Amino acid sequence: MKLKILVGTMTNTAEYVAQAIQMDCADLVDEIEIAMMDGLDIGVFDEDALYLICTSTYGSGDVPDNARNLYDSLELQPKYLGAVRYGVIALGDRTYAQTFAFGGRKFDERLQGLGARRIGELFIHDASEGTMPEELGTAWCREWLPQALAAMRVTA
Ligand SMILES: Cc1cc2nc3c(=O)[nH]c(=O)nc-3n(C[C@H](O)[C@H](O)[C@H](O)COP(=O)(O)O)c2cc1C
Repeated sequence: MKLKILVGTMTNTAEYVAQAIQMDCADLVDEIEIAMMDGLDIGVFDEDALYLICTSTYGSGDVPDNARNLYDSLELQPKYLGAVRYGVIALGDRTYAQTFAFGGRKFDERLQGLGARRIGELFIHDASEGTMPEELGTAWCREWLPQALAAMRVTA
């Protein structure tokens, strides 16, 4: 099984998190592919893969610019995603109290609305805490990935 990480970012933090996971979790899964969200649409979910949405939040609770097309396509070209299993890493900053980590939360909401099933809880990183998202995200993923792969085997 392949883990496909879809990255939404403005200033590359989410990409660094994805790269850290690609290196540190290689022993847990057959393959880890990173895809920047630029230019993607809902068709990206057609593959037989486990998905990890890894995105930050911008503006007033918006998805990053490079995630806009994919996010919009979930609404504009909707289709049933009942076979899709995914996790979410949501990067944000609690200083933005009203919209904390909305980028990841919005993807989660829209994917669930199309029948996709999230495995486990969202991993949310708060930039105002001063912790390293790469370290915490990798540690979270090492716990999440075995559970997610097991859940995929059960529902396959
Ligand atoms: C202009 C700007 C707006 C932001 N808006 C939000 C927001 O509404 N909610 C939130 O939780 N974080 C917000 N953030 C924080 C970023 O999501 C956070 O710093 C994240 O780690 C950046 O990741 P990236 O480098 O992958 O884009 C904002 C940051 C900037 C610079």
